[in-house]
Amino acid sequence: MSSHISREDILRELELLPVWRPREPLLNVNALNQLLDVQAEVVPDVTTEILIADNTLQPIKPDGLPAEIALPVMDDADELLSRAEIIQNMDWTALQDCIKDCRACDLAATRTQTVFGVGDLKAEWMFVGGAPNEVEDKRGEPFVGPAGQLLDNMLSAMQLNRGNNVFIANVLKCRLPENCNPQVEEVKQCDPYLKQQVALIKPKVMVALGEFAAQSLLQSDAPIASLRGQVHRYNDVPVIVTFHPADLLRKPEDKSKAWDDLCLAKQTIQLKLRN
Ligand code: URA
Repeated sequence: MSSHISREDILRELELLPVWRPREPLLNVNALNQLLDVQAEVVPDVTTEILIADNTLQPIKPDGLPAEIALPVMDDADELLSRAEIIQNMDWTALQDCIKDCRACDLAATRTQTVFGVGDLKAEWMFVGGAPNEVEDKRGEPFVGPAGQLLDNMLSAMQLNRGNNVFIANVLKCRLPENCNPQVEEVKQCDPYLKQQVALIKPKVMVALGEFAAQSLLQSDAPIASLRGQVHRYNDVPVIVTFHPADLLRKPEDKSKAWDDLCLAKQTIQLKLRN
C-alpha cells in the first residue's frame, strides 16, 4: 500500500477542507508588479558600539562581538548613536541579547521572559503577531497555544512550517498584563527590534496577523477590513494583512478570507522571486 499523503489529505486532516480552497489570482500580474518595484538593498553602517544589559554602550569589534580593546567610544553624549540606530547595526547575537535584557518600557516588570521569535533566519516568509500571551511568555516561543496550532495548520496548508523558510515574530516582545491594551510607547520602544529582525532576515513577504500587528507595522489606524487585500510595505518588504488566528478560532467563517490573503501573499512572493 502506498504511504503517500497528498496535500488534500493533509488539508482534510487539518479540517481546512473545504473551507481552505484554492482560488483565482486576486490581482492581475501587471498591477502586482507595479506594487513590487524592486528597491536597492540598504547596507547598514559599520557598528562601533552595542547596547548592553544595563543600557550602557559597549564598543564592539567589527565582527559584532564585545571587545576589551575596541574602537573608541565617543564621550560626548550628543554624539552617541540613538538607541534605534544602535539596534539597527546589531547582528543576531547582539540583537538577541539586547531583547533578552530589554528594560525599555514597563512591560519588562511583568514579563517572565522576552519572546524573540522563532524560525528560519533566512526565511522568505515572515509572520508577525501582536504580543505573546501568558503561555508564550512562560515558554519563550510565539504562538504555542490553540491560535498557534491554527497558525501551524495555515502554514501546512501553504506547504510551509515554522522551522523551514518561515520566521514568526511579534510586534511586542513582552507579554501584556491581563486586560491591558498595547500602549504607543511600548510599540515605539519595540519597533527597532522588529525592524532589525526584518533587516537581518530579509524576508520576501511579511504577513501581519490581526489588526494590532497590521496597524503597528503600517503605522495606520485603519480597520483590518480596509487593510486586507492590498500589498503594503514595511521597510520595502511587501506586507499582506490577514486575520489573527485567535480571531479565526472565534469566527471560523473568516477562514476562507484568510486563505485569500495567504494566496495573495503567495502570489506576491512568487512575483518577487521572479524579479
Ligand atoms: N501569541 C503570539 O505570539 N502572538 C500573538 O499575537 C498572539 C498569541
